[in-house]
Amino acid sequence: MKDYFGYKDKICVVTGVSSGMGEATAKILMELGAKVYGLDMNSPKLKGFTSFIKCNLSHKKDIDEAFKIIPEKIDSFFGVAGLSGAKTDYRTTFDCNYTANMYITLKYLNKRMSKGGSIVYCTSTAGQEWKKFKREQNKVVHSKTWKEVVDNTKKLANIAPSTFAYMYSKRCLSQFACEQSVVFAKKGIRINNVMPGSTDTGMKQEFQDMVGSEEGLIAEAGLAGRLATSKEMAFPMVFLNSEMASFISGIDLAVDYDDTCLKELGLKKNLEAVSATNPIICAIAKKMLNKSANNMKALNAGKEN
Ligand SMILES: NC(=O)c1ccc[n+]([C@@H]2O[C@H](COP(=O)([O-])OP(=O)(O)OC[C@H]3O[C@@H](n4cnc5c(N)ncnc54)[C@H](O)[C@@H]3O)[C@@H](O)[C@H]2O)c1
Repeated sequence: MKDYFGYKDKICVVTGVSSGMGEATAKILMELGAKVYGLDMNSPKLKGFTSFIKCNLSHKKDIDEAFKIIPEKIDSFFGVAGLSGAKTDYRTTFDCNYTANMYITLKYLNKRMSKGGSIVYCTSTAGQEWKKFKREQNKVVHSKTWKEVVDNTKKLANIAPSTFAYMYSKRCLSQFACEQSVVFAKKGIRINNVMPGSTDTGMKQEFQDMVGSEEGLIAEAGLAGRLATSKEMAFPMVFLNSEMASFISGIDLAVDYDDTCLKELGLKKNLEAVSATNPIICAIAKKMLNKSANNMKALNAGKEN
């Protein structure tokens, strides 16, 4: 059978391999014959990595150590790891979701990938309004070092709720993908961006708590009437980085079973069209989220008594 995907013996680096979409991506790549270098801060259940490297992507030092182990020549990169911000602070969330991908791309992939290389980042439909809010993101997306990103988000990290780091980091990453795809294309390297809708992964409970119920979460999954599976997000990422997608570069692929379309047609309210950096909106959101967290605590305490 012809190998249209072309992953046989390719060096693939995948982040977030210990759960959900990253794990599913790594498994498919192994089945297609790739040499998979997996990065995660937690140990994986999946076996078959050429190398698994324990790495906290919110820490620049860990990334530098990991890239000492990864071979000099990299064929494909899958930036899948992410944090919702429900359990982590603004800084940790933003750095895992955005800063790590920016740093890996500019410091390592830039030098270690050559013609034919491919990069896919996993963002989110939560960040799909990035084009509308470019002015809010420009300073961060145009930062070239880890320190510059931290400096340019320091104020925000103090005033915004950490769940806002999710939306903002995903917007920044989508914009970064678009801008860098133009730069990397000159070297024959493709960059694309997959924006998943609601998916049944390790992150599900955190998102469910934010919207209040599983039904609420399913309502965010377009017309499917169910959540997506991890595999249904891994397949498009594997496709975009494969030889089957050799003429696809610089796209945002929403994988959300019509959810984007419904919003475009005005058939569904677009709750994502709000500023992620406006101090007044951040303060109101912080207050509302604290209130709902306290209500949840009281509810759970009541259940226990
Ligand atoms: N689940 C959804 O509904 C949904 C929707 C849109 C986008 N996404 C995005 O999909 C991607 C994959 O998430 P998932 O849904 O599979 O969740 P998941 O929680 O199942 O998997 C995330 C993985 O990332 C790892 N990780 C988290 N922070 C890390 C860090 N600082 N360093 C190293 N590893 C870290 C975790 O250990 C875990 O293995 C994320 O970028 C997420 O934002 C998820």
